[in-house]
Amino acid sequence: MSNISVLTIDGPSGSGKGTISLLLAQKLGWHMLDSGALYRLVAFGAEKHQIDLQDEVKLADYARTLDVRFEQADDRDELATFLEGEDVTQGIRTETAGNAASKVAAIQVVRNALLARQRDFNQAPGLVADGRDMGTTIFPDAGLKIFLTASMEERADRRYKQLKGKGIDVSLPALLTEIAERDARDSQRTASPLKPAVDAIQLDTSNLSIDEVIQRVEQLCQQRFDIS
Ligand code: DC
Repeated sequence: MSNISVLTIDGPSGSGKGTISLLLAQKLGWHMLDSGALYRLVAFGAEKHQIDLQDEVKLADYARTLDVRFEQADDRDELATFLEGEDVTQGIRTETAGNAASKVAAIQVVRNALLARQRDFNQAPGLVADGRDMGTTIFPDAGLKIFLTASMEERADRRYKQLKGKGIDVSLPALLTEIAERDARDSQRTASPLKPAVDAIQLDTSNLSIDEVIQRVEQLCQQRFDIS
């Protein structure tokens, strides 16, 4: 497996990973892996099929055979996501789905079940991989690894605006608590915890605009990859 043209973007919830990754994939003309969506889909599908979140064997079987399709379009600011033929692009973005995803993602057999599927995204001309363990576990030989951070308040505020913009009703204090809980669960678990790869470049985006982050990462891409 060649990982020469893989850019990994890891970081906690609300650090801007999703937006930055999609914009970069569009600019570079590369594929995009939204690995968080896979965990969200497993949790979402488990609820639909009444699979108990404690039943690790059934969850892993479901994850292994997950019937999902992503559609990436240059004129869309999100990846259209279909689970078993149904458009769940919005449905998997709720905080409830995110929290359930974070629980499912702590189960090692579920992570193993999604491993090969994630690596299959590594196709020419290149891949932008967004998640928590892209640089540490899934693509350890990636050509460029970025770890995005931002203060918890800034991340809660961004999430608030993002969800409001989509017409989803949320409260800022509740979001702050949820983000804190999710951070703790994602970084303290034993299975692929959220942490920067030793060779990752860390970027604090608290005081940076999306354009500024894109510019910095693009410069790094030009240094690392054979692109113009
Ligand atoms: O990035 P996101 O909010 O869509 O991710 C949802 C959850 O999935 C997140 O709480 C942690 C988990 N996740 C993970 O464990 N590993 C990844 N590579 C991506 C997401």
